[in-house]
Amino acid sequence: MSVVTAGKIWLSSPHMGENEQVYVKEAFDTNWVAPLGPNVNLFEKSIEYYIGNGVNVAALSAGTAAIHLALKLLGVTNGDEVICQSFTFSASANPILYLGASPVFVDSEKDTWNISPYLLEKAILDRISKGKKPKAIVAVHLYGMPYNVSELKRISETYKIPVVEDSAEALGSSVNGVKCGSFGDIGILSFNGNKIITTSGGGALVTKNYEYKEKAIFLATQARDDAPHYQHSHVGHNYRMSNVLAGIGRGQMEVLDDRVAARRNNFDFYKLKLEQLEQIEFLEEPDGYFSNRWLTCILTPSFEIRENIRVALLNEDIESRPLWKPMHLQPIFEKYTNYADGTSFDLFNRGLCLPSGSNLTTNDLERITDLILKIFKS
Ligand SMILES: Cc1ncc(COP(=O)(O)O)c(C=O)c1O
Repeated sequence: MSVVTAGKIWLSSPHMGENEQVYVKEAFDTNWVAPLGPNVNLFEKSIEYYIGNGVNVAALSAGTAAIHLALKLLGVTNGDEVICQSFTFSASANPILYLGASPVFVDSEKDTWNISPYLLEKAILDRISKGKKPKAIVAVHLYGMPYNVSELKRISETYKIPVVEDSAEALGSSVNGVKCGSFGDIGILSFNGNKIITTSGGGALVTKNYEYKEKAIFLATQARDDAPHYQHSHVGHNYRMSNVLAGIGRGQMEVLDDRVAARRNNFDFYKLKLEQLEQIEFLEEPDGYFSNRWLTCILTPSFEIRENIRVALLNEDIESRPLWKPMHLQPIFEKYTNYADGTSFDLFNRGLCLPSGSNLTTNDLERITDLILKIFKS
């Protein structure tokens, strides 16, 4: 994403509220231009309040950094296996490799497009039978749709394997009123530029366990021991969020609910306009599920039709994107074990993410849907 040109419609662009610059200016005025300071503390508090359910939050430089620290806190190390949802962005899986561990990829269910509880349990039993009990599970609320939280909880408790809840795309989503980010042993958020709210770049670790928060901050600030000089007994990272960027985050938290409402309106608009095309499918919310509808995705009848739509949109300066290519099919990950049944491959082939920013106008949405209707009519 570079310079915004008139007429171009982006997939998901940043959408600032009223106070972001006020809080950034505060950081300059008070000279808190550092990876700590009042904006960081207040940003963390606002997320803790928003998610509720007794969570503690550590603001970090990226969601990827949060996954790396989460796995480290759960004791993942060289030679371990970690189960990871295959249908996701590569950042869910890369930190497993940072730690010298191996990912084991598990395919998706059709109801939520997220990790299949059936295949997950099958994978766990198979790994255990081979003497390789997985150390953790990385499950993802993709495109804002929550994964099957009750089944994941049951499986995690039955086999005593902790869950890293990748909520990078799901801030504002919930199941039966409980917000995403608070379901796993450790949750993570992303505030990357394309997310529902952004700090330009940033992330957070979310946990009910206060000790995890303290340890995450310790590791994220170069793991300095308590001494007047610089002393280190652990390998540290430089992963803390800056106080300047946390100022943007404070402003963004004030408009988060508006951003969720706007993205859900996008979904409703697309559905209303495109429902007449029987060949197009939308992912519906299971009972009790509430998706922030970060991106509205459609399923087309075939790869060819998906590509026709994507290219036609592109020719009109409208950005859309195929659904995530599953990790077990990525060149970097294909050598690792997988438990796949073709579900995510099919989604990847036929699925398209439509422009979904909270700043889209009705005009933009009409331009997009008119074009898609025209393609089907011709
Ligand atoms: C599912 C998922 N996990 C992890 C990440 C990583 O977050 P970040 O870009 O903040 O490192 C992202 C987004 O970028 C994501 O979409």
